[in-house]
Amino acid sequence: MTSTLPDLTATPYDVEGVRRDFAILSREVNGRPLVYLDNASSTHKPRQVLDAERAFLEQHYSNVHRGVHTLSQEATDGYEQARTTVASFIGARHDDVVFTKNVTEAINLVAYSMGNAPAGSQFHLGAGDEICVTEMEHHSNLVPWQLLAQRTGATLRWLPLTDEGRLDLTELDAVVNERTKILAFTHQSNLLGTINPVDVLVRRAHAVGALVLLDAAQSVPHFPVDVTALGVDFLAFTGHKLVGPTGVGVLWGRGELLAEMPPFMGGGSMIEVVEMASSTYAPPPERFEAGTPVISQAIGLAAACDYLSAVGLDKIAAHEAALTARLLDGLRRIDGVRVIGPDTTEMRGSAVSFVIDGVHPHDVGQTLDEVGVAVRVGHHCAAPVCRRYAVPATARASSYLYNTPSEIDALLEGIEHVKRFWGAA
Ligand code: ALA
Repeated sequence: MTSTLPDLTATPYDVEGVRRDFAILSREVNGRPLVYLDNASSTHKPRQVLDAERAFLEQHYSNVHRGVHTLSQEATDGYEQARTTVASFIGARHDDVVFTKNVTEAINLVAYSMGNAPAGSQFHLGAGDEICVTEMEHHSNLVPWQLLAQRTGATLRWLPLTDEGRLDLTELDAVVNERTKILAFTHQSNLLGTINPVDVLVRRAHAVGALVLLDAAQSVPHFPVDVTALGVDFLAFTGHKLVGPTGVGVLWGRGELLAEMPPFMGGGSMIEVVEMASSTYAPPPERFEAGTPVISQAIGLAAACDYLSAVGLDKIAAHEAALTARLLDGLRRIDGVRVIGPDTTEMRGSAVSFVIDGVHPHDVGQTLDEVGVAVRVGHHCAAPVCRRYAVPATARASSYLYNTPSEIDALLEGIEHVKRFWGAA
């Protein structure tokens, strides 16, 4: 386990108090109390986040980095303070945090920037070079690399999966080799829940001179993450999965790497001198924030980071681990249910995918919704994972800081109901 994994001995917090901050959790769905277990897809927002965004928009809003008037100064200060807060949330320096639209854009930013790098640059790729991912990637950390390989002539390779839902590292030294320019992998699988051994992968990648990009969309919201301790080169996550707004994501990169990287998008604010035929570019992070940035969303994201820090990421991780253990134990006791992914809480998070014999996952999701339980069904934007485990789709329950043991029990009762309803009991 790396040093960033949950401290399972942490003191629990006031979950009911947390729930009161999320108005939507007290609503009903189909005449039943809402049981929201679709947090790996997106999370709800506490009033503190909504209040922060509203106060900013009502009292300080203007465009940033562009004006000398008072509101522009206040908005710029607020936006840059948000960057400091978000940076500190992941143990980073202010200037090394780039705001993007979401994690997908953050990963594309690196992939396109590498594609724009001239020959001789450490980011340049061509025929004979390799890009490495894993078979458990979300499409957002797979398709950008497929596109980069197509554009540059580089070869895409991947680490396969074991039957238990872990990375198969038997061939690690062959797959990540002297030709590898970048290794991009997920910290925690959105479908399997698997938490990957970052230290092992970073050690191998750096031994062969490859860069490492970590897709932390499913880890930063759930347990303490420190970019320095992880030792990666780039890390990407998104706001809406950590009780923050939609429309804002983060790319963190090592300062010396960002400084050398060519731009991804061109436009206002990312330049130094613009002539008709060419331009020079601003230092990071502005170089990578072309156009009017995600201003109020960044303010909301900083409020979300503050909210989670006040509860305590280690405590949230411990709470989720207890809920996951309860869910895995309950699923084990129901005949005809199979978990797709690790069956224990060791090195796994709260996203639990399962299938029920004889019932299509979409029917599982719809029938659970009828009793107020929200789970995601489908391939979860990780179609190769479903293919690997020979299932068309899965149902996935994913808990977060505001879920309770009784909600896990409601899901388990709901699954029994699904089985009876579809004659699979
Ligand atoms: N990445 C999100 C999920 O896993 C959308 O559901």
